[in-house]
Amino acid sequence: MNASDFVIRRPDDWHLHLRDGAMLRAVTGHTSAHFARAIIMPNLVPPVVATADAAAYRDRILEAIPDGDDFTPLMTLYLTETTDPDDLAAGAASGLITAVKLYPAGATTNSDSGVRDVERVQPVLERMAEIGLPLLVHGEVTDPDVDIFDREAVFIERVLDPMRRRVPGLRVVMEHVTTADGVDYVSSADDTIAATITTHHLIINRNALLAGGIRPHYYCLPVAKRERHRLALRAAATSGNPKFFNGTDSAPHLATDKESACGCAGIFTAPNTLSCLAHVFEEENALDRLEAFLSLSGPRFYGVAPNEGRTRFFKSETPLQVPEKISVQNDDVVVFDPGFPLFWHTEPINAGAFDR
Ligand code: DOR
Ligand code: ZN
Repeated sequence: MNASDFVIRRPDDWHLHLRDGAMLRAVTGHTSAHFARAIIMPNLVPPVVATADAAAYRDRILEAIPDGDDFTPLMTLYLTETTDPDDLAAGAASGLITAVKLYPAGATTNSDSGVRDVERVQPVLERMAEIGLPLLVHGEVTDPDVDIFDREAVFIERVLDPMRRRVPGLRVVMEHVTTADGVDYVSSADDTIAATITTHHLIINRNALLAGGIRPHYYCLPVAKRERHRLALRAAATSGNPKFFNGTDSAPHLATDKESACGCAGIFTAPNTLSCLAHVFEEENALDRLEAFLSLSGPRFYGVAPNEGRTRFFKSETPLQVPEKISVQNDDVVVFDPGFPLFWHTEPINAGAFDR
């Protein structure tokens, strides 16, 4: 492999927020330019709770894809304590529903209709285990007595592990894992569990958010942790272990909603994610494992084939030009600033147009 110019299978994003309306139309092209498929998060207002909602949302996404881009949204349902197992099973059988998202109620953006007590959704989880439909977990407890930096570790102990024992065979993705505890848990468990890792958690630790001033554009949930956790995430992402794969959690919000006395959580990384990831993998001497993280391990867990298309990565002396922000409805969405210049560029290559 040439260390400054190489080709991989076209990537997928296994955790993405596209929103709706004007925001959806403004951000979709930033993902479809780089990714063939993405798991679309259902935390709209109101949330995507039934198969019919997901079908309508999918149509709106398809309309927002720029002409010429080849992109498939993979739809999810938002689990509530009143989710109908038959609706979910029918959605999965039709091929429309790829996974179900568990938000503990109150854990993050638009999670109010989430699950308060996981035991109440036991019949739904059993049905999912039976049909092999993955549960995507936002792994943080909401107990106000638990320190926000400990909420992931406590979730594993109090909720995730007991739930997996109660529903053997349930396939689970621990979304946006942010701690060494999460990495250890997933690494040492059986093959029914995997984890996504975001771009930003590989790059920032909690200092980026708080040192020298409060920087709302680095605020996300789960919140970035100490440096030792970031290093554990880097080791997991670049290890080649198929249990860890790319889920950007690119989560656009209007700048005014983030630059506020109560700013909301979410970092918009879609425009520069591939370049950031190549930078990280190069720093870790792991460019030869970038394809596993971006394009192979996710499909393997979800039981689908990797993409036929390819993407070329090449390093240039000219830094990548990424807009600082994109405009949406008289406001902006600020693009993630990794804090260093990016020299990796990417371009799609059509399947069959080159000799691999
Ligand atoms: O930072 C985040 N933003 N974390 C989440 O869990 C939700 C997301 C959003 O929807 O904005
Ligand atoms: Zn998310």
